[in-house]
Amino acid sequence: MNRRSARITLNTAALALQIVFLSLATGVSAGHEMDDRDLITGQTLYAEQCASCHGTNLEGEPDWQTPKDSGVLPAPPHDETGHTWHHDNQLLFEYTRLGGEEALAARGVTGFVSGMPGFGDALTDDEIWNILAYIRSTWPKRIQEIQAARNTPRH
Ligand code: HEC
Repeated sequence: MNRRSARITLNTAALALQIVFLSLATGVSAGHEMDDRDLITGQTLYAEQCASCHGTNLEGEPDWQTPKDSGVLPAPPHDETGHTWHHDNQLLFEYTRLGGEEALAARGVTGFVSGMPGFGDALTDDEIWNILAYIRSTWPKRIQEIQAARNTPRH
């Protein structure tokens, strides 16, 4: 190998490494979208947009595990008695942005009638993350850690 082609090989290696680092960086932020959010704004938006169904104190609708006569499920609590913390960040975000039916259809579950509307027109992505971060902030530390473990690992 002459000197010139050695340098080219080295440059290619450096570029490949850069690409690896870049994709790692995206992976890191993708798993932790709820960190460093505006919890006060999230709480206000929750009260305005979500509390009517999910409850002022995140308690959900009464008897939330029993479908209504229409077959539609009531809104579940977002506190630690519900199952919000059983889901990873991405599912919670898509459920809020697209609504229940579209979020499930995107995962191959069709024909489900959901009472959860999509908020993609009413809220920006950042606003949705602020609300979800506020919801998370009300959970005990142990529950927060279990939920965090469902997200893409930090490395
Ligand atoms: C019109 C009533 C209604 C409003 C308003 C509403 N939801 Fe829901 N939501 C539901 C129902 C009903 C479900 C139950 C699941 C289903 O039927 O799809 C649900 C489910 C969810 C879920 C997924 C399930 C889970 O385990 O928690 C998330 C996340 C969620 N809602 C977030 C929100 C957020 C955030 C807001 C406010 C921006 C909001 N919802 C406003 C009715 C509502």
